[in-house]
Amino acid sequence: MLISKTLEKAINEQVGREFGAAMQYVNIASYFTAGNMLMFGKLFFAQADEEIAHAMKLVRYVLDAGGKIAVPAIAAAPPDFKSAEDAVASALKWEEEVTTLINNLMGIAVAEKDYIAQEFLGWFVNEQLEEVSKMSTILSVIKRAGDNLLLAEQYVSQTLADLEKVESGAHGSK
Ligand SMILES: [Fe+2]
Ligand SMILES: [Fe+2]
Repeated sequence: MLISKTLEKAINEQVGREFGAAMQYVNIASYFTAGNMLMFGKLFFAQADEEIAHAMKLVRYVLDAGGKIAVPAIAAAPPDFKSAEDAVASALKWEEEVTTLINNLMGIAVAEKDYIAQEFLGWFVNEQLEEVSKMSTILSVIKRAGDNLLLAEQYVSQTLADLEKVESGAHGSK
């Protein structure tokens, strides 16, 4: 078995949180979709898919390392938001918390001199930089847009799509 009981337990908890994040993003996406802000809806549904992919990546790792998966109970995510700003602010707050939690997982791997886990968790560390920066960009655009939310979502969707194109161009095709 290539994973300690401590790390196995901590990663199982993180699996639950990633599924929890997916649920929260589904609520946020639904809030926007119901309000006819379809671009933000699409963006947050895509975030939900990403969170499920994160959970599955962790599951696969634990299994590959010979550990056991037991998905924990997941608390309901809040379904109501006061405003677009409130919805995105809650997502940013969540991503900041997740960053701390991922760092804690890395802390365990470092303390245990588990280099395989460190290599694996490095991906999540980088991913959090992307997630936090994406959410804080969206939040600041919404704040700046004021009542002009339709313009904000158009700007955000277009900018994120352009940035992804630039990035995939810079990294080449793998
Ligand atoms: Fe995640
Ligand atoms: Fe995330």
